Amino acid sequence: MLAWLKPETSLPARLAYSLIAFTSLLGAILIVRSSSIVLTHRSPHSASGENAAAFDCILAATDGNWRRTTPDAYGSSRPPQHVAVRDLGTAFTHFNESLLFQWEWAPHPHCSGIRRRTRQEIRTFFKGKFLLFIGDSHIRYLHNALADTLGGDPLPKGSKPAHKAQVSPDGVHLQLNMSAFANDALNMLLSRRVTARWPDYLILDASVWHLYKGDRLSQYQRQMEHLLNVVRVRVPPHTQIFWLSPPARGSLRQHYQIRLPADWVPIYARVAGDLGFFVPQGPAIHLDQLSIGFGCLPFCLLEDGSHAKPVLLDLMQQLLVNAAEQEHQRRGKLQNSVVRRTWQVG
Ligand SMILES: *[C@@H]1O[C@H](CO)[C@@H](O)[C@H](O)[C@H]1NC(C)=O
Ligand SMILES: *[C@@H]1O[C@H](CO)[C@@H](O)[C@H](O)[C@H]1NC(C)=O
Repeated sequence: MLAWLKPETSLPARLAYSLIAFTSLLGAILIVRSSSIVLTHRSPHSASGENAAAFDCILAATDGNWRRTTPDAYGSSRPPQHVAVRDLGTAFTHFNESLLFQWEWAPHPHCSGIRRRTRQEIRTFFKGKFLLFIGDSHIRYLHNALADTLGGDPLPKGSKPAHKAQVSPDGVHLQLNMSAFANDALNMLLSRRVTARWPDYLILDASVWHLYKGDRLSQYQRQMEHLLNVVRVRVPPHTQIFWLSPPARGSLRQHYQIRLPADWVPIYARVAGDLGFFVPQGPAIHLDQLSIGFGCLPFCLLEDGSHAKPVLLDLMQQLLVNAAEQEHQRRGKLQNSVVRRTWQVG
């Protein structure tokens, strides 16, 4: 079934890739030489030993499902903390059924950190951090939702220039660079100086424009392979990487001139996972808007049939901050054990 994922790399592509790999390797060496922090391997997780529990918790942050509840569940009080989001704003009535949904995390006894954060907690968590968003309109929507939470400004559709950098009242650096294709994202990473400040969190996507422009799946896959390699060698280890998949598309409103049907969004969206972008084998944590969006199609998409409504974006934020916090704790533990070992040896 995955035969189309086998690369048939041409000579020029191989040469280009070797060049990228070489310059990136040089870059990586420079980072290692100019940095005094303890470097961990880019593949951020080991599923063995004392890290196993923490590793499970990172994946568990995305482990939950939508449940239908009655409008009076919890009355007007706040829902319990294992409820990530409720769609109070978009709950609707149809055939005399009141449809109110909430997204609940599965119970994880060892992952007490998986819970809904308030706006203030999200602000506190990201205080002083640098978040870089690179991608298409789905990334812009997530950036705008987070900018709203953090007290910053959105970047409206069609803005010129198509990028924005701002510092929130709590000192969070937010930067958004719009890019449609995987190669654009790759070039932005390559053009970032090795000695520049790299983000604490890098949130990426690239898929639907390949579909809308009629890029064949194999072409898209080739660009994604190059992007994955650049991410692996170019992005420093302290940067935590997230990959956002697009929500599935309602095919009622297809306002793109397309040769390929929008029903193929899930097929393009799964390339990143098939190539090994995601933990544990890959560098990125998956913000799986596709799967999560399938479970809430009637109330998660805007009228354009394409972009996420606030309830889905709120959930993506919660997943991001939960996974980020788990990883933060895991790295803290690693650092401690390195310090302990050094101390014992010394
Ligand atoms: C909804 O309820 C109203 C009032 O009870 C009833 O007249 C109507 O037929 C119901 N509609 C459906 C679709 O069941
Ligand atoms: C990315 O965004 C930053 C901040 O707005 C901007 O200075 C930079 O030129 C952008 N990079 C590209 C390649 O557009």
